[in-house]
Amino acid sequence: MGPLDNRNVMETRFVALARFVAEHQALWQVRPFAELVVPWEHDLPEIATWLKQLPDDRVDEYWDGGFPETDCPPLLWSLQQQAQSLCTTPLAEGPSMPTKRHPVVWYWRIKGRKLEQLQSFTSAVLEKWPANTQRIVDWCAGKGHLGRCLAWAVDLPATFIEFDPILANMGAQLAKRMGVDCETVVADVLDLQTDRCLTPNRTVVALHACGHLGDDLLLRGGRNKVAGIFWAPCCYHRTGSSGKHRYLSSIGVSHGPYLSKSALRLAIADEVVAPDRQRRFRRREQQWRLGWDLLRRDVVGATTYESPGMLAPELVQLSFPEFCDRLAHREGWEIPAHCDWVAYERRAVDRLRETTALSLVRSLFRRSLEMLHVLDRAITLSEMGYSVDVVRFCDRRLTPRDLLIRGVFP
Ligand SMILES: C[S@@+](CC[C@H](N)C(=O)[O-])C[C@H]1O[C@@H](n2cnc3c(N)ncnc32)[C@H](O)[C@@H]1O
Repeated sequence: MGPLDNRNVMETRFVALARFVAEHQALWQVRPFAELVVPWEHDLPEIATWLKQLPDDRVDEYWDGGFPETDCPPLLWSLQQQAQSLCTTPLAEGPSMPTKRHPVVWYWRIKGRKLEQLQSFTSAVLEKWPANTQRIVDWCAGKGHLGRCLAWAVDLPATFIEFDPILANMGAQLAKRMGVDCETVVADVLDLQTDRCLTPNRTVVALHACGHLGDDLLLRGGRNKVAGIFWAPCCYHRTGSSGKHRYLSSIGVSHGPYLSKSALRLAIADEVVAPDRQRRFRRREQQWRLGWDLLRRDVVGATTYESPGMLAPELVQLSFPEFCDRLAHREGWEIPAHCDWVAYERRAVDRLRETTALSLVRSLFRRSLEMLHVLDRAITLSEMGYSVDVVRFCDRRLTPRDLLIRGVFP
């Protein structure tokens, strides 16, 4: 598959992806975590059996790196090949214009992986830099690292829009210290007042602006014909006040399969860069949730998994009996005095191993769902008259949210 650098190519890819995910929806729509038996297990018993016998370390390895050709049921291998081919996206090449090299002091207060992300993003932006830009706008700027690095590289002033005053203030201090001419706007980007920042001689950059916040940039920035929009989206499940996913492009509206919040969460369920501590905590949380589910089914006769909602870290740190006790108290029922906690914990460990292994089938569709969503947004910008492409701006080890929409108004 070639580059995603014009509307026709993006639409063709979008339709192929839409067909692929719709055809196999039975494999990704149901979360094994929430079901005692996953419906597709009956149709594909050999795959279910193969997955369930995988040791833990293999499951982790395949979750991040995909299945190896040897030792993998042919259907899984073929699905993986199709998904990979449909999601092929070129890596950005780097700046096509000469840039100043940042002196070391520039990277003060930026941690290792973030720094590499910023350098890659800046390069990918400069490769397509709109020459008529007179000011850079950093959308959901945080401490404004991106806007600051870019502004320095191209000798232009910058505007940071960020609603957290502490981060915005730190951004202003850093810019001042580095001699960058910057204006800080402490505001909700969704506030229509920010329209004054979206004028045709400005280029807007947004590194990991969540779901609807980036959509707003696309729609309002596009309408105002800003010189350039460079957005690496993330948190697709943050859909704003509508509470559900919607396609923005014509092809998305006519051909896009329904994407639930759970599908959008699946699209970002990577652990590639999560530290071990975070992974261990997540495992414990999932184990406690599954154990709690088994207990509810036995004691109160629940027949479906009901999520206890967001769990505070202090709750997950408790022992399993204490954890269940708290939740049962919250739900207003009592746990029998002679509850066999050891057996529940053991069953929870088994369930977690099994559901994680079965979820490998779902994980095959992660990138396809992500691409569908991102292509829809890129096509939308193209429909607004922009010259658009979609690239990967960095290596996945730096961030799994590595897709970048680059739009330049001609
Ligand atoms: C994932 S961080 C990205 C920060 C920065 N672009 C970076 O890559 O380091 C998202 C930022 O958006 C800010 N933010 C979230 N909602 C916002 C809103 N409605 N308006 C303005 N900023 C917002 C958060 O405070 C946070 O700093």
